[in-house]
Amino acid sequence: MTVMTIEKKIYKMTREERLEYIRKATQISGDIEAMLQPLSFEDSNRMIENAIGIMSIPLGIATNFVINGREYVIPMAIEEPSVIAAVSKAAKIAKVRGGFIAEADDSLMIGQVQVVKLGNGKHATTKILRDKSQLLAIANSNSKSVVAIDLRVRLLRDKSPNNMGNMLVVELVIDTKDAMGANAINTMCEAIAPRIAEITGGEVVLKILSNYSTKRLVRCRATFDKDELGGSQIVKRILYAYALAYSDTYRAVTHNKGVMNGIDAVALATGQDFRAIEAGTHAYAARDGTYRSLTTWGRTKEGDLAGAIELPLAVGVVGGVVNAHPTAKFALQILSVKSARELATVMAAVGLAQNLAAIRALSSEGIQAGHMGLHARKFSK
Ligand code: MEV
Repeated sequence: MTVMTIEKKIYKMTREERLEYIRKATQISGDIEAMLQPLSFEDSNRMIENAIGIMSIPLGIATNFVINGREYVIPMAIEEPSVIAAVSKAAKIAKVRGGFIAEADDSLMIGQVQVVKLGNGKHATTKILRDKSQLLAIANSNSKSVVAIDLRVRLLRDKSPNNMGNMLVVELVIDTKDAMGANAINTMCEAIAPRIAEITGGEVVLKILSNYSTKRLVRCRATFDKDELGGSQIVKRILYAYALAYSDTYRAVTHNKGVMNGIDAVALATGQDFRAIEAGTHAYAARDGTYRSLTTWGRTKEGDLAGAIELPLAVGVVGGVVNAHPTAKFALQILSVKSARELATVMAAVGLAQNLAAIRALSSEGIQAGHMGLHARKFSK
């Protein structure tokens, strides 16, 4: 996609003009109206149990994003006013200094098999590790697309009040490539469980992926020009805002809620498991024992604002809802990402942009002025 010049501001366009804008910006051909058809009741009824209807959420597009030199139109599904306007504005400011630079790890996930009622935990560990290649072969025997690449064992002591004794956690490290991978991981864990029970003589209880995907991190950074932000004083006030988010959990949770306004909206639009993303992300925010800001902010030697974000993002561009939901398919077409890793970089950039927009507003005019103006639209019919 080439960098576009927008003659008319998106928010002033009619829906038809916006669809035309998407068509031009993304080279999507075909009937966009038809692609935007909502999920049918029949599909919903196949997807979940006891379906009675469809819960709809507005779908919009964020603009101005340049990530690793490529311009993106970003679909976002969200019911909250001002989020899309805010990220688009933040992305415009970032663009002045070259946009967002982002990179994502390989799609490595962890699947856990819990073993209890062990005799000697150390002996059991040795026996499992001795049979590692056989266990990996069992894990991989049913899977074409994702690959178990490693297996490790951890011996844990129950820290709950119930005193259930020692347990082993056998962990598969699985490359899920362009899928989020939950189903494949769970299948692999279930496949190796009987052999693990046999080897250890213990009892296998849980066989499930971990949503704490710390081997699947994404990192994104951007520089925001001080004059575009409103001057050095604003930069300083943003650093005060960050100081509170880094140092105080009460503020950190709200600060990160703003980050997730952006990330969840892209996740929802593209059919990701946003509950998994939320759970993993918040655990990551507390990785040093204290819940902190997911973003970091500082000043460059020129006095501009430098922002960065790092978080685990287990997302997919194939499989699951991504294949089943027409809007998710269309949203991925708009994004035109080639891989799950690329999707993760886009989501990280949106999270960083959303956080910048929020803390800039909070440290200048206050959130109500901007936010409430957009809220007011809802009631001004
Ligand atoms: C509102 O949805 C999100 C904010 O509260 C985030 C923040 O305080 O940083 C504005």
